[in-house]
Amino acid sequence: METNKILGAIILALLLAAVFSKVADMAIHPEFPDELAYKIEVPEGGISSEIKEEVNIFEVLPEITPMLASASMENGEKIFKKCASCHTQVKGGENKVGPAMWGIVNRSKGSMEGFAYSGALVEFGGDWNVEELNKFLLKPKKYIVGTKMNYNGIKKDQDRADLIKWLSSLSD
Ligand code: HEC
Repeated sequence: METNKILGAIILALLLAAVFSKVADMAIHPEFPDELAYKIEVPEGGISSEIKEEVNIFEVLPEITPMLASASMENGEKIFKKCASCHTQVKGGENKVGPAMWGIVNRSKGSMEGFAYSGALVEFGGDWNVEELNKFLLKPKKYIVGTKMNYNGIKKDQDRADLIKWLSSLSD
């Protein structure tokens, strides 16, 4: 009887030792399946540098002027179809959801009479020269934070160049 108890205790101790060493092993060398192990991309200089980069996309955006000479009026007109639901393009055209586009290039920002602009756009100030249009049309809501123009923007430089060239034809 006494021997059985001692044997039992020894076996229990051995078992516990085995379990503990396994647990310790797992804690020190955890084996995660590959799918669970993903890499978090941390940009050089830390995460704050990436946020700064986003804000500065407009500063690093190449000028559109050099692209205008060879830009396509035909494609520009086609791209304007995305704008036409909110903007008229004809001379004397009225304001719709957005202000009329006739004479837009080099017009003062927020200057179409009778259109209720957002405070953000009016306060932004300046003229719609081709470079300003280029930045605004890339990401309207990022360039003029608070604008009520509900449009995501045009990613491709060539498409913006084509559209801006076509917009500059909307004048006498
Ligand atoms: C869903 C409707 C909508 C679409 C689509 C849209 N716009 Fe606008 N747009 C607006 C509104 C609304 C404003 C006024 C923004 C404000 O006051 O903040 C505006 C303002 C503008 C302005 C400033 C005008 C001024 O008088 O200061 C320009 C330039 C412009 N849009 C160009 C475009 C072009 C080019 C496209 C197509 C790529 C386009 N928009 C697509 C609604 C739209």
